[in-house]
Amino acid sequence: MWLQLHLDGISLRQDSVMSFFATAEHERERLNYFASPEGRDDLYQYNQKERRTVLEVLEDFPSVEMPFQWLVQLVPPLKTRAFSISSSQSSHHNQVHLTVNVVSWTTPYKRKKKGLCSSWLAALDPEDANFVPAWFHKGSLPKPPPSLPLILVGPGTGCAPFRGFVEERALQSETTSTAPIMFFFGCQNVDGDFLYQDLWLSHAQNNGVLSEAKGGGFYVAFSRDQTQKVYVQHKMKEQSQRIWNLLAEGAAVYIAGSSTKMPTDVTSAFEEIVSKENEVSSDVAVRWIRALERSGKYHIEAWS
Ligand SMILES: Cc1cc2nc3c(=O)[nH]c(=O)nc-3n(C[C@H](O)[C@H](O)[C@H](O)COP(=O)(O)OP(=O)(O)OC[C@H]3O[C@@H](n4cnc5c(N)ncnc54)[C@H](O)[C@@H]3O)c2cc1C
Ligand SMILES: NC(=O)c1ccc[n+]([C@@H]2O[C@H](COP(=O)([O-])OP(=O)(O)OC[C@H]3O[C@@H](n4cnc5c(N)ncnc54)[C@H](OP(=O)(O)O)[C@@H]3O)[C@@H](O)[C@H]2O)c1
Repeated sequence: MWLQLHLDGISLRQDSVMSFFATAEHERERLNYFASPEGRDDLYQYNQKERRTVLEVLEDFPSVEMPFQWLVQLVPPLKTRAFSISSSQSSHHNQVHLTVNVVSWTTPYKRKKKGLCSSWLAALDPEDANFVPAWFHKGSLPKPPPSLPLILVGPGTGCAPFRGFVEERALQSETTSTAPIMFFFGCQNVDGDFLYQDLWLSHAQNNGVLSEAKGGGFYVAFSRDQTQKVYVQHKMKEQSQRIWNLLAEGAAVYIAGSSTKMPTDVTSAFEEIVSKENEVSSDVAVRWIRALERSGKYHIEAWS
């Protein structure tokens, strides 16, 4: 399951409408230029590349006094944002936990920008009664039954859905026999963004659901703690034999995360592992993973 959030956000669309309401001549000229075919490239640099919001444009053109009813028509409706639910309902009754990274970047003109929704969420005061408008949608990662062995790959906020999976299976293991989980997590630094460190490590020992003693395992790749990047796929290749053993036992693979390239790279790592351990050509390994996908045992939920 994942959750969608609606907020009031805006982006520039119609410079000609704005120019109509500009009272300063130089501002009207500039806005007309942006709206003209000759100004298209400059408009692209100013608006799309910089991801300026209407509010920022109004700050740049202070003489524009646009009536509210025009402003509302000009601004496109805000798109909703989805977040994976990162808690198990059985472990946290009447609660929904999210794992949100505040998106931030520097524009070509060196302006610091923050993601609208993630920064809004981060700024909420937990002490206040906050109203967060939200909807629930069924996600693309099906809930695994306790008897299904799992190989989970979730770097960064990709660990969100798997926190719920691990919590759920830990509870199930108190009353029934459960299949093992191997979980590959990745983050930048051990001291910076090692999300839910205590949770994973506690389940990785004392016969926990992530323990090697139970046939599972927890493996973490710190990408920036050394000169060479280390990613989840490097850790997977170190566990090649154990991954293959679990796949051969009928394990399902779940991959989640925010990096655009990560799912492709991780899929290539799975293909390499199948090729090496099953002693088949890379073509056969590719078909093996495709067959796993067709059988409903290879799931990817990625965002960027
Ligand atoms: C199914 C699904 C599940 C998701 N689960 C989670 C989750 O569990 N946790 C989580 O944190 N997020 C999750 N996301 C992502 C989330 O929905 C939002 O996209 C994210 O939080 C950013 O939203 P925002 O409003 O903060 O940023 P926005 O204001 O929407 O800004 C983000 C935009 O900024 C731009 N941008 C970002 N970085 C750069 C850059 N370096 N250079 C140039 N432009 C850039 C991009 O164009 C991007 O579209 C999920 C998405 C989906 C589809
Ligand atoms: N301000 C901060 O401190 C901070 C920290 C983390 C993330 N963020 C931002 O928050 C957003 C979401 O972050 P997130 O937590 O979900 O992290 P993310 O950006 O998905 O990164 C998580 C981990 O995956 C690694 N990674 C990158 N490309 C990969 C690939 N192709 N294959 C496997 N692993 C790969 C990253 O390494 P590298 O990043 O070293 O390449 C990092 O160690 C991103 O926009 C990110 O820029 C900010």
